[in-house]
Amino acid sequence: MSTKVAVVTGSNKGIGYAIVRGLCKQFKGDVVLTARNEDLGKQAVQSLNEEGLSPKFHQLDITDQASIGRFGDFIKNTYGGIDVLVNNAGIAYKNDSTAPFGEQAEVTIKTNYFGTLAISNALFPLLRPHARVVNVSSMSSSFAIRKCSPEIQAKFMNPNITEEELTHLLNDFIQAAKNGDHEKIGYPNSAYGMSKVGVTVLSQIQHRQLSADPREDIILNACCPGYVDTDMTSHKGPKTIDEGADTPIYLALLPEGVKTPAGDFVAGRKAHKWNEYQYTP
Ligand SMILES: NC(=O)c1ccc[n+]([C@@H]2O[C@H](COP(=O)([O-])OP(=O)(O)OC[C@H]3O[C@@H](n4cnc5c(N)ncnc54)[C@H](OP(=O)(O)O)[C@@H]3O)[C@@H](O)[C@H]2O)c1
Repeated sequence: MSTKVAVVTGSNKGIGYAIVRGLCKQFKGDVVLTARNEDLGKQAVQSLNEEGLSPKFHQLDITDQASIGRFGDFIKNTYGGIDVLVNNAGIAYKNDSTAPFGEQAEVTIKTNYFGTLAISNALFPLLRPHARVVNVSSMSSSFAIRKCSPEIQAKFMNPNITEEELTHLLNDFIQAAKNGDHEKIGYPNSAYGMSKVGVTVLSQIQHRQLSADPREDIILNACCPGYVDTDMTSHKGPKTIDEGADTPIYLALLPEGVKTPAGDFVAGRKAHKWNEYQYTP
């Protein structure tokens, strides 16, 4: 039987790094730490080696189609398939960023939504039966959807929304952000929040696609790791990276044949209605 493999995007630091650490301890197979910056990735592997853990490394920038292609080839040629994919890589502008809001919207959605979509499209054909996919979203998606106008909420909450419709909505938000009339149209003033609305809704679409897939028992969930002490939060989050990694790891290791959670928004190991979710530390 071929070696099982787990992949974590954006895992040279923060929650992704802790997900790799936890999977190295619990997953029965190889764990691939990936980073867009090769040096930072190799340094991260080195520090896990010092803890006696042995992740593999491969470069991966989820916004770079050539990098995605090379990574897909590596997984296919080395393992012939994939058993766990944690879509963790993400960015957020700081609250005090002076970058124009339109730029923040475009760049944030390019990584968090389009990057997650691109790496998923490249790797989903390689998912083996019983594979687990975890999309690291955020409680910010819950805050952002509640701040949308009822008309826009209804579009994102349409249970039959397609990937094309979702992409169209997010492009519409980016355009409105560039025009400076996003709030007038009914969008909130949060590029990161809207990018994570994209990730949460994409997860539901991907769940529908994978549920209809002939490959047996592939389960995908979105999750919120909580408010975590990382560079992204300028170290204001109270949770350690290992605490933040708990729910993603739990979802990555859901046993074969489990029926729930599946296609859910999971926080603190519990499924929630994502649009109603209220974060409690
Ligand atoms: N921290 C929180 O409280 C919190 C709460 C809710 C959700 N989240 C989500 O949890 C995930 C991890 O966040 P974090 O707090 O651990 O952030 P972080 O410490 O800033 O780490 C983010 C990771 O993503 C990588 N990354 C960014 N753009 C990438 C790209 N284009 N391709 C590949 N990797 C890329 C970063 O690489 P570089 O080192 O090269 O920048 C880094 O390794 C994110 O999706 C975030 O939105 C975090």
